[in-house]
Amino acid sequence: MSRTLWTDDAGIVRTIDQTVLPFERRELTLRTLDDCIRAIRDMQVRGAPLIGAVGAWGLALALAADASDASLRRAFERLAAARPTAVNLRWALERVRARVADAGPARRAALARAEAGRICDEDVACNVRIGELGAGLLHELAGRGAQRTGTGRAGSGPAVLNLLTHCNAGRIATVDHGTALAPVYRLHATGVPVHVWVDETRPRNQGAALTAWELAERGVAHTVIADNAGGLLMMQGRVDAVIVGCDRVAANGDVANKVGTYLKALAARDNGVPFYVACPVSTIDAGAPDGGSIPIEERAARELTHLSGALDDGSRVSVRIVPEGSAVANPAFDITPARLVTALLTERGVFEASVAGVRAALTEGAP
Ligand code: MRU
Repeated sequence: MSRTLWTDDAGIVRTIDQTVLPFERRELTLRTLDDCIRAIRDMQVRGAPLIGAVGAWGLALALAADASDASLRRAFERLAAARPTAVNLRWALERVRARVADAGPARRAALARAEAGRICDEDVACNVRIGELGAGLLHELAGRGAQRTGTGRAGSGPAVLNLLTHCNAGRIATVDHGTALAPVYRLHATGVPVHVWVDETRPRNQGAALTAWELAERGVAHTVIADNAGGLLMMQGRVDAVIVGCDRVAANGDVANKVGTYLKALAARDNGVPFYVACPVSTIDAGAPDGGSIPIEERAARELTHLSGALDDGSRVSVRIVPEGSAVANPAFDITPARLVTALLTERGVFEASVAGVRAALTEGAP
């Protein structure tokens, strides 16, 4: 696949501006700490693992400009505050800080750069592994929804695996391959028929704009649905499993992900549909005892009051859809309790969403 974050021949950090997708593929150059903070805060880059990787590069760029302790401290705090829910950001910043802490100023920038590069490489490797493990797990489930509801039709050829996903936990939410979509790409590449129901994911429409874009780019069959359609599709036996990404896993297995995930988990439980959460171990926050201790980002009201898109002539527009003066609340994430999660799918294996499962994910196969 091709990376979402890379350094060019001159060593300059580059990424894709996700705010203009799917209408335009525009590259973004990250030259300074401020460029990285802006990219994370304004969601030019988004998705927990990618936010972490850009944060790591932000610290490296800050140290290239000023390698003092004060600069390290300031850059760390400013980057960590750029988005609060995805723990991968703080995790990546802590890794870079630990790497440079004892080094003299002359060596810090190079060490930080090397660590940021390692974080990116490791993200790719984790997602490949999640793809392999998830493909094995999900392959078995093809046709289960129809069997469960007795709606299956006799036909020739292998049953299609129907998955439902929320938000975008694909290639562009990571350095490459994605988390929730990594098994999809793996199955598709090995010739397994797979189809993805893509929640539009209001208010920013990461599903409609980004997941649909990247699945189309890879030739994976998919259908965009309104956020509220998933329950009906599960009831009709048209979903074999739900698979989503994650921004933070608490020590008891509760998970934070894009707002609306919880409702999908409830519908999945009510209909006997397995609900998987794909998450690299870097998404686990052992310091958060449960979902209630995870900070939920509140974003600008404009994301809800206005819709952005393109006219037929390609020009970009933003139109108001909520009456002036109506109060608006815009929590960007929600918590899915561990009891609704079938399993956590990590690069180290498949674990129960529970205190014991999270502990095992943190310790088993740890380097
Ligand atoms: O607000 P976003 O677009 O950064 O939210 C992204 C998600 O909720 C993803 O599901 C999550 O970060 C996992 S990405 C592999």
